[in-house]
Amino acid sequence: MSETTVDPKQYIIKDEPYYEAIDSEIELYESAYAVRMPMMIKGPTGCGKSRFVEHMAWKLGKPLISVACNEDMTASDLVGRFLLDKDGTKWQDGPLTTAARIGAICYLDEIVEARQDTTVVIHPLTDHRRELPLDKKGELIKAHPDFQLVISYNPGYQSLMKDLKQSTKQRFGGMDFDYPEADLEVQIVTKESGVDQATAEKLVQIAHRARNLKGHGLDEGISTRLLVYAGQLIASGVDAQAACSMTMITPLTDDPDMRDTLNAAVQTFLG
Ligand SMILES: Nc1ncnc2c1ncn2[C@@H]1O[C@H](COP(=O)(O)OP(=O)(O)OP(=O)(O)O)[C@@H](O)[C@H]1O
Ligand SMILES: [Mg+2]
Repeated sequence: MSETTVDPKQYIIKDEPYYEAIDSEIELYESAYAVRMPMMIKGPTGCGKSRFVEHMAWKLGKPLISVACNEDMTASDLVGRFLLDKDGTKWQDGPLTTAARIGAICYLDEIVEARQDTTVVIHPLTDHRRELPLDKKGELIKAHPDFQLVISYNPGYQSLMKDLKQSTKQRFGGMDFDYPEADLEVQIVTKESGVDQATAEKLVQIAHRARNLKGHGLDEGISTRLLVYAGQLIASGVDAQAACSMTMITPLTDDPDMRDTLNAAVQTFLG
């Protein structure tokens, strides 16, 4: 039986991921990391959660292993499994196991999508034990001192059927994220997309209109991510209205009335 080893360096982020602080989240996260508190990052899609975690991993100089969770994911996908190859059986660590061994920050994106029997594997890692039993392999891993678990969570589309158990939730410290306030969002869109500031201001104004429609026909408002997309297209020469329609309307809704409303907002600011 053989094992593969991983080089932590491959998970180190070399270049600073651009991140504008909204509040004191950088300092708060540093304090949480200092005591290795597992963290839950809450907020709507495209508001900067992943970027924040990438920035923090870079700032702390720790490897980052990210996993996009989904409902088909099993505990083995996180922890690892035996593989058969021409030389026989080989154990392959899953991303959570690798992170615990090398002392990485493990970011489980949209953990609520995973089934509960998958979610419970993180329990022993997220309390005083800081250990991960590999039942199939008969090994008990003590997490590396630098290991930290971070999960993301979008409170918007959580239903009662699909939520984390209290016994999972109460293993984490939490941070609320939201779209940045207007001035900061203009700065982010300008910097990330290369569009001029005046146009970025208009895009942000349109987004503010649309965000007021959340719960009144829209499930989610226009995210910062979509504003960056719109800015990128405009900066590359695409007509502003076509760019907005492609990035800020079409992906959001199929409802013809809602599309009209959003188109009218685009017209108002960019027409
Ligand atoms: N504070 C910020 N500083 C810099 N860029 C930001 C910030 N907030 C958002 N962005 C921009 O918005 C984009 C989307 O952010 P990100 O991918 O982190 O969203 P997310 O919250 O992880 O969304 P999802 O829940 O869909 O995964 C980033 O690629 C970046 O361009
Ligand atoms: Mg993300």
